[in-house]
Amino acid sequence: MKFQLNDQPAPRVESDCLVLGFAEGMELTNSARAVDEATGGAIARLLESGDIRTGIGKTQFLPGLPGLAASRVLAVGFGKADKLDLPRFDRACLAAGKALRDHPLLNCHVCLHELETAGVDAGVDAAQRLRQAALAVHRANYLYTVTKPLKDDSPVPLAAASFQGGDTLQGALDQAAALAAGFEKAKLLGDLPPNICNPAYLAQEAAAIADRFDRVTLDVLEEEDMSELGMDALLGVSRGSANRARLIVLKYAGAEGDQRPVVLIGKGITFDSGGLSLKSGENMMQMKYDMCGAAGVIGAFLACAQLGLPLNLICVVAAVENMPDGDAYRPGDVLTSMSGKTIEVLNTDAEGRLVLCDALTYSERFDPDVVIDVATLTGACVIALGHHASGLMSNDDRLAEELTAAGNAIVDRAWRLPIWDEYQSQLDSPFADMKNVGGMSAGVLTAGCFLSRFAEKQRWAHLDIAGSAWKWGSDEGATGRPVGLLAQFLIDRALADQG
Ligand code: BES
Ligand code: MN
Ligand code: ZN
Repeated sequence: MKFQLNDQPAPRVESDCLVLGFAEGMELTNSARAVDEATGGAIARLLESGDIRTGIGKTQFLPGLPGLAASRVLAVGFGKADKLDLPRFDRACLAAGKALRDHPLLNCHVCLHELETAGVDAGVDAAQRLRQAALAVHRANYLYTVTKPLKDDSPVPLAAASFQGGDTLQGALDQAAALAAGFEKAKLLGDLPPNICNPAYLAQEAAAIADRFDRVTLDVLEEEDMSELGMDALLGVSRGSANRARLIVLKYAGAEGDQRPVVLIGKGITFDSGGLSLKSGENMMQMKYDMCGAAGVIGAFLACAQLGLPLNLICVVAAVENMPDGDAYRPGDVLTSMSGKTIEVLNTDAEGRLVLCDALTYSERFDPDVVIDVATLTGACVIALGHHASGLMSNDDRLAEELTAAGNAIVDRAWRLPIWDEYQSQLDSPFADMKNVGGMSAGVLTAGCFLSRFAEKQRWAHLDIAGSAWKWGSDEGATGRPVGLLAQFLIDRALADQG
């Protein structure tokens, strides 16, 4: 979808649809007032009659208004003005995006960022609201078509959106475009079936990104390379699969060579059958999404490269398939990780931490300033936090705060969970340095504890995106999260370094 700015008065902007927002107890926005005047008071009358509804997420197409260059207006309700925080703002913009998707029009002109947010988000400026609105409209208009061609009755996603405003908003619009590209890549990778999106496919995708940008380089480690490095935890998981594993290392050099990089690590289990600890039928079919951590870090990497952020970034993707087989790793096996620590495998379905621990050890060679791993790691995280927040664990309070703030600023939220020492003892094993599972209680935390043992030397954070990375049921599909949180974190860092 193409984004653009247009600073003509809204009534004069030619488009298939002019998108205006209305909140209860808020004056008309500049554009709504201009439209009201140009239409001889039609907006005020429609509000009065209840044909424009202000309830949050309510949408109404208004065709045939006189005096406008646009063919129609979409009126969008934002609810009560004093309750309009950024998440509610995002929700209303998403509803607008869906209405536009479900209508056979191709472009629109959006004025939604003129509504001011309130409460804790009273300080949010028009640029930030513009970016949020653009991303929400973009998100609603994503349509997967790789293995399902368009039909006559398919939704018609928007091809272009313009936004009310001039040069002062260009930076926000550029960010929106880069982030949208990152989200779109992450969603597509997540949605692709596991017979297409396997470890080799992820490596090809990384190569395509490296080809596109001068400042990006790529290393891909094959199983032989990983074997030489002693990555036997990762390779243990891969042994049951006919698809050979890859360790994908994308590097973006946006700053001086000696500036310590941010390292993002993604869990890229392209299908998680559970291995010999086979998942039950009802739990297995969603497991093509078990590479959404990889998709998220690749999407954030892409956004960062597209924006040309002045920082160094390395993305490490552990791309592996977890399958049962005569040569598969077994419950009871003891694996020696790259760090030298031994792991007793009690459940081959706790495979994410096994590939991530070797990726964490591998990252030490980059002397990172911070390391953040991203993974659809535990069903327990979904039980704890549901689908709205990603789980955040960290050994560094400041890093945890920065990530939380980044998520809040772009409505891609994470909530911090404890990884206190007390939980570590659940991983004790009589036969190895640790078990790979910690029992029934606090499964999300013991998974975090496991990873923390491989990040002791680093400023490290872990995002468990098991609940946030995709939607199931109606509206099914990958969400692209946490591309927003990660990209915002990187943007904030780049700004802080410059200032
Ligand atoms: N990929 C799953 C986690 C998962 C499950 C994410 C459901 C989203 C929805 C992970 O590899 C896994 O299987 N974890 C096990 C760990 C357990 C064996 C300790 C789980 O959560 O059941
Ligand atoms: Mn698993
Ligand atoms: Zn998994």
